[in-house]
Amino acid sequence: MILTSERNPEPLDRIVMETISATQPDWSRETIIPGRYEPAKYLLAAVRRYQRLKSRGGATAKLLLPLTVFSHRFWSAVCGADIPLNSKIGGGFMMPHPNGIVIHPDAEIGPNCLFFQQVTIGTGPLPGTPVIQGHVDIGAGAKVLGGVTIGAHARVGANAVVINDIPDNATAIGIPAVVRKKE
Ligand SMILES: CC(C)(COP(=O)(O)OP(=O)(O)OC[C@H]1O[C@@H](n2cnc3c(N)ncnc32)[C@H](O)[C@@H]1OP(=O)(O)O)[C@@H](O)C(=O)NCCC(=O)NCCS
Repeated sequence: MILTSERNPEPLDRIVMETISATQPDWSRETIIPGRYEPAKYLLAAVRRYQRLKSRGGATAKLLLPLTVFSHRFWSAVCGADIPLNSKIGGGFMMPHPNGIVIHPDAEIGPNCLFFQQVTIGTGPLPGTPVIQGHVDIGAGAKVLGGVTIGAHARVGANAVVINDIPDNATAIGIPAVVRKKE
């Protein structure tokens, strides 16, 4: 489906893709809004806090680390997600429905990515772990497996299984995922 606006005949999804940066983290995407039930943001906040404390070091950090680990475990259980404390995730990461999301600790995820529920980023046929560049949206149930690279601004369709590289700006669908050809 292609959406356009009257003032701008460009497809709206293309305009949105271009306005979200693949390099500059938009931290507002992770901001906790008081009163809203958004457990993914609390889980991510625990990961961010843990990494800040680890890099800062010192006595206060040592004291606060166990609390942060507890908070991470609590929100991991609430979300039903496995996102390790040492994950390499760029700022501006979003998980609208975090249940079932599993991320390998060695995977690299660029800024402003968005994963839907049941996404797995793990090992697969190619040696290594995935490198996901900035502003990549990954649909529900999709798996990204092995030493593959997904280019900036790419989209992975729901339930796709990515076992090969996906170029920048591409949309990949299916099992194994292939780049959808533009008409
Ligand atoms: C892949 C995706 C990003 C493409 O969106 P789009 O550009 O608007 O594509 P369209 O809906 O116009 O579909 C284009 C074609 O791809 C097919 N297609 C779309 N998504 C697909 C998917 N996940 N798997 C297989 N084929 C898919 C469509 O059937 C259509 O095929 P056709 O050209 O033969 O008719 C989108 O369909 C998708 O999967 N998004 C993830 C959404 C999601 O996970 N939502 C969870 C919300 S809780």
